[in-house]
Amino acid sequence: MTTAHTLTVQALHWTGTSLRVLDQRQLPDTLRYDEYTDAAGVAEAITSMRVRGAPAIGIAAAYGVVLSALQHFSSNPGHWQQAIATDIELLANSRPTAVNLFWALDKMRSVLDRPQADPVAALAACAVKIHADDINDNHTMGELGADLLAGAKGILTHCNTGSLATGGYGTALGVIRSVYQRQAVTIYAGETRPWLQGARLTVWELSQDGIPVTLIADSAAAWLMQSGAIDWVIVGADRIAKNGDTANKIGTYSLAVLAKQHGVKVMVVAPTTTLDGSIASGKDIHIEQRNPNELLPPCYVVEDSLVSGWNPVFDVTPAGLIDAIVTERGVMLNPAEHGIPLAWLI
Ligand code: MRU
Repeated sequence: MTTAHTLTVQALHWTGTSLRVLDQRQLPDTLRYDEYTDAAGVAEAITSMRVRGAPAIGIAAAYGVVLSALQHFSSNPGHWQQAIATDIELLANSRPTAVNLFWALDKMRSVLDRPQADPVAALAACAVKIHADDINDNHTMGELGADLLAGAKGILTHCNTGSLATGGYGTALGVIRSVYQRQAVTIYAGETRPWLQGARLTVWELSQDGIPVTLIADSAAAWLMQSGAIDWVIVGADRIAKNGDTANKIGTYSLAVLAKQHGVKVMVVAPTTTLDGSIASGKDIHIEQRNPNELLPPCYVVEDSLVSGWNPVFDVTPAGLIDAIVTERGVMLNPAEHGIPLAWLI
């Protein structure tokens, strides 16, 4: 995969015959890439969150389809299309909320639907383009988002939306990277319980780039806003409905409510691959529930425990609490007034 941009840490590395995935569960202690040569392995890497973040999940799945084609095209003449369709289904079931996954799989399906002299090469070209386009889109959004931040002194972000969550550079974290080049700004990252994407990934990623960042407990956000230290909350998205309602990491909705109370603005940064033109509002977004054991202290993960857990890993922020949605195609201010521009959905 080639790109004109300087690369930060890479979540995914395509070798041409395998996909190397940075195991994000081990960060920041261990930097280890696992190598996958089939779609089932990639699906498992997504489900287990070795790779996570909406755009990165979509890119990984696209490479998973290429691996399926590499495996089945020559060894399974006559049945290779069915074998790939089965793998696409497997990849589609890896996680439910990020629409980028389904967008990428649809793209790969449309390549398969066209007659191809060399389907493997055509699928590989499509996956590499999805990856490269995502990096370019992140840089475009970085500049567009930074344009909105003139005079801003403090920014709070949530989850990890950087190179680890995308093809490279990042969505919300891309804007933060870009604005940091332009002006003095203090960056705060919420730890993002229970999986700690903020504490383990975001602060690590920024510090790798030499960008100072202050980690806060999620529960410190109200008090931080009350202190006047921040002007903007900047987050990514996993799925945006036609009316601008936005699913993102659990806790985003709380931050948006708090921001309203304290006169802090909210920016959502996401490529158009995160838009879901098939749903009118956030009510139709499937919110992933993960195993409560990711939340519970181990002493409660025992038979007949009286302590259970509730672990939705995304929530929906109503468009009315969002001041700006930034995509690679432009900026929509006050999305609740107009919804998502039709041109962004094509
Ligand atoms: O559960 P995760 O870590 O996959 O959730 C990631 C997020 O919620 C991100 O904020 C979102 O995918 C945008 S990433 C550019």
